[in-house]
Amino acid sequence: MSAYRILLAAGVFLAVTSTSAADIGTQMDVCNDCHGDNGVSQWGDVPTIAGIDAFGTADALFMYRDEERPCSESEYRQGDTNRAATTMCAISADLSDDDIEMLGDAYSELEFVPAAQDFDAALAEAGAAIHEQQCDKCHSDGGSNVEDEASILAGQWMAYLENSFADYLSGDRPQDKKMKEKLEALSADDVTALLHFYASQQ
Ligand code: HEC
Ligand code: HEC
Repeated sequence: MSAYRILLAAGVFLAVTSTSAADIGTQMDVCNDCHGDNGVSQWGDVPTIAGIDAFGTADALFMYRDEERPCSESEYRQGDTNRAATTMCAISADLSDDDIEMLGDAYSELEFVPAAQDFDAALAEAGAAIHEQQCDKCHSDGGSNVEDEASILAGQWMAYLENSFADYLSGDRPQDKKMKEKLEALSADDVTALLHFYASQQ
């Protein structure tokens, strides 16, 4: 093989294994067609991913790629909405480790915007008390502190969080052992109250 061809082969190899900032931008455009512009969702069943800690987002993507976390089928919400519905597992299957790390970093740098959504004030108050007792140790500041590396609950969409509770309680989504004990001790009314508390933080 000539030196030129070796270089060419090396170049092609580099092109398929390294991710540039430009590629990440293109990938984020696809993500944002479901997660909303700048990762801020306008759809209750799709989480806002802007401003979540880089580790949390990367970890979620690794878990989807390994099919360790349930993924529901979803339509594209904007852009070319004729694209076939897909799942987070299918989307993550195409991502390299580098892509995942870069996506985690990129979304962590964007601003989390709390969802404008309806909530019941009395339920929110009841939820605040439960949160303070059971959850604030790991989800501090009412679930808004990104430095906890425990996602952001405050201002996340209620329908998405409701699905998350269901996935944890059914055992389909793996979780921290200490959180499992806490979640399993909650009544259905407690869960509803918590959902209204998180929704109330706007
Ligand atoms: C076709 C729609 C769609 C596309 C495209 C999409 N997502 Fe998702 N994503 C969802 C839905 C819906 C959920 C909620 C979980 C579920 O239903 O599977 C989700 C969940 C997530 C979560 C979990 C959030 C959490 O707090 O645990 C992350 C992280 C995520 N997506 C990142 C991405 C990234 C990064 C991309 C682009 C590479 C992307 N998504 C592309 C629809 C989509
Ligand atoms: C021992 C620490 C700990 C405790 C206590 C805890 N959590 Fe968590 N929680 C975490 C961590 C870490 C994550 C992020 C990892 C993951 O996605 O499973 C998380 C994630 C979540 C999520 C998923 C967020 C998303 O974006 O998908 C929900 C919902 C949640 N916790 C609710 C609660 C509630 C409600 C309580 C109190 C009843 C609670 N947690 C108590 C550590 C904890």
